[in-house]
Amino acid sequence: MNIRPRRNRKNAAIRAMVEETKLGAENLIYPIFLQNGKGIKSEIKSLPNNFRWSIDMLLPEVEKCLELGINTYVLFPAIEERLKDAIASHSYASDNFYLDVIRTLKDRFPEIVLMSDVAMDPYSSDGHDGLVRDGKIINDETLPILAKMSIAQAQAGIDILGPSDMMDGRVGYIREALDQANFTDVSIMSYSVKYASAFYGPFRDALDSAPKAGDKKTYQMNPANRREALIEAELDIKEGADMLMVKPALCYLDVIASLKEKFAVPITAYNVSGECAMVYAASQNGWLNYEATMSEMLLSIRRAGADGILTYFAKDFATLLKK
Ligand code: PBG
Repeated sequence: MNIRPRRNRKNAAIRAMVEETKLGAENLIYPIFLQNGKGIKSEIKSLPNNFRWSIDMLLPEVEKCLELGINTYVLFPAIEERLKDAIASHSYASDNFYLDVIRTLKDRFPEIVLMSDVAMDPYSSDGHDGLVRDGKIINDETLPILAKMSIAQAQAGIDILGPSDMMDGRVGYIREALDQANFTDVSIMSYSVKYASAFYGPFRDALDSAPKAGDKKTYQMNPANRREALIEAELDIKEGADMLMVKPALCYLDVIASLKEKFAVPITAYNVSGECAMVYAASQNGWLNYEATMSEMLLSIRRAGADGILTYFAKDFATLLKK
């Protein structure tokens, strides 16, 4: 044998030298659930280790995470049922606490990068990402609502908008609205390739945002499709998206890889709630090693081609890197 691949694995220093994939805290985006009020840190039952925070409790937590090197956060609001309506009007209301949280965080931590979620579901009495009429999701009438939501978030100081709604044409519509309002510096990270996945369960528990009727299959993609992802990605780039996202991550590593190969914009992936919940559950049972499985999962997403990863593991992984 003149070729023995094991020689390049013979000790830790050589393994480190030839390591192909590196993952640092700078690649992580930490999803945070928000609730209006004071003194709230309430654990999400189906997503142990993750909480709904009121802003006063969140500030010291963010300070700790920034010290760990996590600079980017994506914020999700849990909205009281009485404030929800068919047109998600609270999403752009001046007394929406979500907008206050953005302002407070940017004020307290000017170096932080904040990303939003742009979709109707947390604010919609129907629990859908778009406007519902006679059981149908009305694409074009949803766009102005998303634009109003986007402008309100931009005014509050958001750095990156994250349209997660999967309506056709929304990236271009939002980009134009932003530019007309002089928010040319606000970025768009589009949830370009978002599948109708069974892995969003814990997230919908956290926000109480599950659809009241029907499912999301007329707008989120069919998990069986890979080539269709290229259509979505190409449209979003043409419409002005700065970065594209694939969601979920683990079952869709092939999709991440094919987007990375075909497009030059940064590609991110959302390691969604259900993917993390599986690891929490198995490790709490002693069936899997938490730190090792978490690290392997995140590394695989990065290896597939993700520049950034949205993950509930962000804090624990960054802590592990410091050790
Ligand atoms: C809402 C939204 C969802 C997630 C992020 N934004 C849920 C959904 O589409 O039903 C899921 C994230 C996760 O499961 O961690 N537009």
